[in-house]
Amino acid sequence: MAVKKKMKWQDYFPGCFKPDSPNPNQKKLVSKQSSFQRISLSDLSSSTLSEDLSISLAGSNLHVFTLQELKVITQNFSSSNFLGEGGFGPVHKGFIDDKLRPGLKAQPVAVKLLDLDGTQGHREWLTEVIFLGQLRHAHLVKLIGYCCEEEHRLLVYEYMPRGSLENQLFRRFSVSLPWSTRMKIAVGAAKGLAFLHEAEKPVIYRDFKASNILLDSDYTAKLSDFGLAKDGPEGDDTHVSTRVMGTQGYAAPEYIMTGHLTAASDVYSFGVVLLELLTGRKSVDKSRPHREQNLVEWARPILKNPRKLSRVMDPRLEGQYSEQGAQKAAALAYQCLSHRPKLRPTMSEVIKILEPLKDLDDIQIGTFVFAVSTDSDSQKEFSRDSERPKKESGHYHHRHKLHEGHKNRAKSPKSPLSFTETALQKD
Ligand SMILES: Nc1ncnc2c1ncn2[C@@H]1O[C@H](COP(=O)(O)OP(=O)(O)OP(=O)(O)O)[C@@H](O)[C@H]1O
Ligand SMILES: [Mg+2]
Repeated sequence: MAVKKKMKWQDYFPGCFKPDSPNPNQKKLVSKQSSFQRISLSDLSSSTLSEDLSISLAGSNLHVFTLQELKVITQNFSSSNFLGEGGFGPVHKGFIDDKLRPGLKAQPVAVKLLDLDGTQGHREWLTEVIFLGQLRHAHLVKLIGYCCEEEHRLLVYEYMPRGSLENQLFRRFSVSLPWSTRMKIAVGAAKGLAFLHEAEKPVIYRDFKASNILLDSDYTAKLSDFGLAKDGPEGDDTHVSTRVMGTQGYAAPEYIMTGHLTAASDVYSFGVVLLELLTGRKSVDKSRPHREQNLVEWARPILKNPRKLSRVMDPRLEGQYSEQGAQKAAALAYQCLSHRPKLRPTMSEVIKILEPLKDLDDIQIGTFVFAVSTDSDSQKEFSRDSERPKKESGHYHHRHKLHEGHKNRAKSPKSPLSFTETALQKD
């Protein structure tokens, strides 16, 4: 039987309470314990969130960093290391050298800093630490550690060289992603979701969208951002009831209407991202004609009609896609976007359908050339030239409120700069 040792909140987050007097013997790694059982947020009462986390955070293997260390790693959060900004706060690139911690290899990292004036706070930070600290998978971004000093809350992740799918797919001057890469990304992200849904204690991700899918140098997709994640229903329950949160354009209609959250809500959001990959259009785009602004409303009726499908396919693909593959992916998106959650496939079924598609080779041979600069080149350009957007710059994108009267995570200011693989341009 799994026996959990009673431990105090301070034992797991020592940095929050001892910023000025570091104990030289303090363990910097929240180490694996012999009897691992994932703890869930529901195990924590609201008082434990701020006071005493008397539950084991076993198996986390997270490193505890000091604010000073993270300042050094990111060159004092310099604008030249700025990667982007979401609802939590700004994200900076940093570099850990092999002398910082025994057992922690030299590597680039992404450091997310809580914006103390923002709408998110300790709860979102803790949710991320609890979920991502305990879940490890090839298609989830790795949380390396955290910092919790006084009111400061930071998260340290593995660095994902190609940034988010949102940047890769929608930045105006970026090189178009080829068909097979799009399918690879869809499969990778599907595997991340399937892992969460099929875990011993299932997790509903709740915020599946292009900006939360990060890409490795070889376009391996990894899910990031667990601030909205929820433990799935247990026992005979069919759903969990929650405040309606998420992002407009991605959230499932029944979830918006009732607040009932199931794994099928994530499947709907997956369908929206799949549609974005097929069409190259954003789930909501206010700059388009009125009837085309909501991607699902515009494209869904066409998805089942193979003869009309080319009308909605991304023109930037220049016809360089497998017709068979596109038809199967479109039919799958149609199913995922069903208004009846029970008719949506499970994520394992999605993987089974999608996985073979990237290898279909009925692609017209054209003159299109996909030019990719090296990682280091593109990253150099990005790091050197990007700047932290000013709050007054008017480049804020706000996450839409889904439900009046409910606190929602605000979507955040984004960099006003367009990052491309070969060039960097102002919007
Ligand atoms: N691990 C990482 N490696 C590289 N870049 C990252 C990493 N994590 C985040 N980023 C960059 O930082 C940006 C902001 O990420 P963040 O998740 O905070 O916000 P978002 O997803 O854009 O918005 P939201 O708050 O709605 O989730 C991303 O667009 C991405 O480009
Ligand atoms: Mg995000």
